[in-house]
Amino acid sequence: MEKVILTADRPTGNLHIGHYIGSIQSRVDLQNQGDFDRMYIMIADAQALTDNAGNVKKVRENILNVALDYLSCGIDPEKCCVFIQSQVPALTEMTFYFMNLVTLSRLKRNPTVKEEIKLRGFEESIPVGFLTYPISQTADITAFGTTLVPVGEDQKPMIEQAREIVRTFNSMYGETLVMPEAMIPKIKSQARLVGTDGKNKMSKSLGNCIFLSDEPEVIKSKIMNMYTDPNHIHINDPGQIEGNAVFEYLDAFVKKDSFEKYLPEYKNLDELKTHYKKGGLGDVKIKLFLNNIIQELLKPIREKRKELEKNPEQVYKILFKGSDQANLEAEKTLKKMKQAMGIDYRSDIF
Ligand code: TRP
Repeated sequence: MEKVILTADRPTGNLHIGHYIGSIQSRVDLQNQGDFDRMYIMIADAQALTDNAGNVKKVRENILNVALDYLSCGIDPEKCCVFIQSQVPALTEMTFYFMNLVTLSRLKRNPTVKEEIKLRGFEESIPVGFLTYPISQTADITAFGTTLVPVGEDQKPMIEQAREIVRTFNSMYGETLVMPEAMIPKIKSQARLVGTDGKNKMSKSLGNCIFLSDEPEVIKSKIMNMYTDPNHIHINDPGQIEGNAVFEYLDAFVKKDSFEKYLPEYKNLDELKTHYKKGGLGDVKIKLFLNNIIQELLKPIREKRKELEKNPEQVYKILFKGSDQANLEAEKTLKKMKQAMGIDYRSDIF
């Protein structure tokens, strides 16, 4: 069987380090390992519109931003197809047929959608498109025969929904669609990076993000203001690791050589944690350490981005070429679906 990788982001803002560690980094690794037949990265503008219908300008502008973030992180359009969701009309058509295979109560049970509805204060006025976006996401995934979807933890319910739809479709109309699988980072803090406030998931709407394009001073000031342990007031007080955002980030971002480079008095993260718990290690020190690590990570990304920003036409060209290619593939799947369903009337008759 072919190995096909697909993943996507909504273009509602610049990408942040939560996206990077939860998904982009593993996409770049997968891309460079080359162990796949096809790889797709989609900019989910149509999905973004499900809760931004009155805000098309924002979505439109962020298509370029997200594409710049991808390319500056090392996504290579020669190796993987980067495209815009709305430029592949077959996805919408597929969604319409999938809608018949899902109940309203099933959609309302989706924990990620439930949380989003709460966060957005939709209460009883939920746009139908928003509630049904997991169905459209199933089309995104199945249209390309995707086998693997690298995503953060919050997307697990979407992949489960997609698997259910594939199962139902195949049992109702015959084996047609490929069963996808989620690939979620093993390290918990990577799968779901908390915001700098330490409370919620990192999310643009909550203002608790460090963006891939942030300037060095901005990164530093965000890190120095991060949430730690509110009871760790004096250096000598024992500190708490659980729920301490700085340690969550260190868990996610520390590399083998980070200590040697920036904090040689400690051998590893366990040693640092033990000292913090015992007391005698100040927040400023761990924050400066984290700052060094994040600055090292983001410097080359920011510099590459500045280069690419000079030529937006080139970036759009990549996206349109990718969209044309994605369109051909999605059309093939849609045709197979219609044949399986028995609604491909023209080819039946002529
Ligand atoms: N829902 C995803 C997010 O909010 C974006 C997305 C749309 C996606 N279609 C997808 C992710 C298909 C994986 C596969 O981040």
